[in-house]
Amino acid sequence: MTDQTITSVSRESRIFKPSAEFKNQANLGSFESYRRLYSESVNAPDKFWDKQAKKFLSWRKPFSSVLKWKAPHAKWFSGGQLNVAENCVDRHLGTARANKAAIIFEGEPGDTRTITYKQLHREVCQFAHVLESLGLKKGDRAAIYMPMIPEAAVAMLACARIGAIHTVIFGGFSSEAIKDRVNDCQAKLIITADGGWRRGKVIELKSNVDRAITGTPTVQSVVVFKRTGSPVTMTPGRDLWWHDLVAGASTTHKAKAFESETPLFILYTSGSTGKPKGVLHTSAGYLLGTAITSHYVFDLKETDVYWCTADIGWITGHSYVVYGPLSNGATVLMYEGAPNQPEPDRFWQIIDKHSVSIFYTAPTAIRAFMRWGDEYVKKHSLASLRLLGSVGEPINPEAWMWYHNLIGKKRCPIVDTWWQTETGAIMVTPIPGVTPTKPGSCTLPFFGVVPKVLDEHGNEVPKNAGGKLFLTQPWPSMLRTLWNDDDRFKKQYWNEIPGLYFCGDGARKDKDGYLWVVGRIDDVLNVSGHRIGTAEIESALVSHPAVAEAAAVGRPDELKGQSLVVFVTLKGTHTASEELKEALRAHVGKEIGSLAKPDQVRFAAGLPKTRSGKIMRRLLKELATSGEIKGDTSTLEDFAVISALKQDEE
Ligand code: WT7
Repeated sequence: MTDQTITSVSRESRIFKPSAEFKNQANLGSFESYRRLYSESVNAPDKFWDKQAKKFLSWRKPFSSVLKWKAPHAKWFSGGQLNVAENCVDRHLGTARANKAAIIFEGEPGDTRTITYKQLHREVCQFAHVLESLGLKKGDRAAIYMPMIPEAAVAMLACARIGAIHTVIFGGFSSEAIKDRVNDCQAKLIITADGGWRRGKVIELKSNVDRAITGTPTVQSVVVFKRTGSPVTMTPGRDLWWHDLVAGASTTHKAKAFESETPLFILYTSGSTGKPKGVLHTSAGYLLGTAITSHYVFDLKETDVYWCTADIGWITGHSYVVYGPLSNGATVLMYEGAPNQPEPDRFWQIIDKHSVSIFYTAPTAIRAFMRWGDEYVKKHSLASLRLLGSVGEPINPEAWMWYHNLIGKKRCPIVDTWWQTETGAIMVTPIPGVTPTKPGSCTLPFFGVVPKVLDEHGNEVPKNAGGKLFLTQPWPSMLRTLWNDDDRFKKQYWNEIPGLYFCGDGARKDKDGYLWVVGRIDDVLNVSGHRIGTAEIESALVSHPAVAEAAAVGRPDELKGQSLVVFVTLKGTHTASEELKEALRAHVGKEIGSLAKPDQVRFAAGLPKTRSGKIMRRLLKELATSGEIKGDTSTLEDFAVISALKQDEE
């Protein structure tokens, strides 16, 4: 058997302790309370989750058991009944939150709207009536294909209110993607908008739906929200305007109570091969996972203005724009458009304009800000910020330090949160005010989470050695299955080591038990006989002052087995040259050791990414190996990047 262990070469050793100021006001104020709660959560999970489910959720009927676990199938809070929308909206009405802003909306053109919990309640009730009048019933599927506007959240919550299952399709996806997803889950209804604003242009959502719908026999109606006023074709009898439907609808709606395991949504996540997987999340456990993490990880307070920049089309938008923060009664900022419209300082302008206090974004965005230049940040005060978050990829220490210094002004804790579409909620993360942070590490497990780094025999690898990352205990917000494909669910996640959840990532634990995700297992590099995660090589490259972003891939090599090819994009003020290539090779040699010196350095204007910002190393590997890209590019964000890469070919 081949040795599957991963060599870790990172030498990052900086530690940032929580400030006394943050700690004194934090929702969880000490490392001792973290230890105590964590230990209860993994040693007596039934007791722990029983308490938390009563604390964080409003039940119509109490549950009779906490967990029924027959791996890999979980039933959480059996016997209990609740309504997810009621938990996110109605329950705040009898309190001081009734007239508090639930959503502050900033459109790309600069229009703003503030929606209080009371107003949100009316809108959700009205739209729930609309859905019912269109024949949508408990268990039916509705597709939501909308821009980042409050009505997207209203549509999700209205589905939840009546027990219908929503599937949100990212507004940047094509009509093909709509067709595949709608057909896979047999949706009855599509909720969309005429269009949405992106980089000053209208994204024509309705016409994409029109193209998809010729091949989606299950769809009976299309509800269209008027956002941009751009011309659309309405097919009589099928297409209906949101404003017409809502006009006569009652602003109160009696919410039914649903069993804990009632499906809440399906979210399609692209597999590296084959058709997208329909990850299924259910009601009570999912809501509890998002609610409790929002409270502790974002340290939510009544006075916060909380902004998660993720699109509603991703799990981050589901869990940390809608369900988690709203169930906590938070004020959520929603921004419709691009970060560089009209100028690369739009995010910083929004933070000052709306006094945002908590800001949660992705490493790919942070690296773009770094590339655009510090001057755009320095034009704004950012004094309202008190907490920063990162999600989506390992954050390179260089980007972490920039985030800490330039955005957080050395004052705001950074929570680097590791989780997945499948986990539903944050799994590994610092707790702000509690956990000392190390740039590039997502640190320690959240309550109830038991991460283990294992070798191929299922043994824990030694400290600082790399291996595969597993979660060994069930958690409330875990995916329940893949829609209509329980076999694939079992094969994909539970087969690597039977009974344990395999997340697909490589990781190591350091001497303090901190987790460092080193990249996807499929991307692991074989250099000079060592298996090394992509994140460590890329972090070394990004720590060079000329480099904005880097991707490392392996190319088959007759002599060495595999040679290391790196693709590098440069910061604005630097230009490609043979000298710089040499300098970068030397830099990696100095940072990691000569074993990891790239065999080839290639400069690129941009790297191929998925629409959620992850670098598609698979395509770069193909390009480095064969000079061509023939693999599946349907999840690629920008096709121009690929043609530019081919032209750069030496
Ligand atoms: C994969 C999940 C979680 C919501 C957004 C992405 C990578 C995510 C981190 C992090 C290192 C991370 C992993 C994971 N990832 N967060 N903080 N540090 N890697 O959801 O599209 O389901 O992707 O993103 O590889 O498995 P997703």
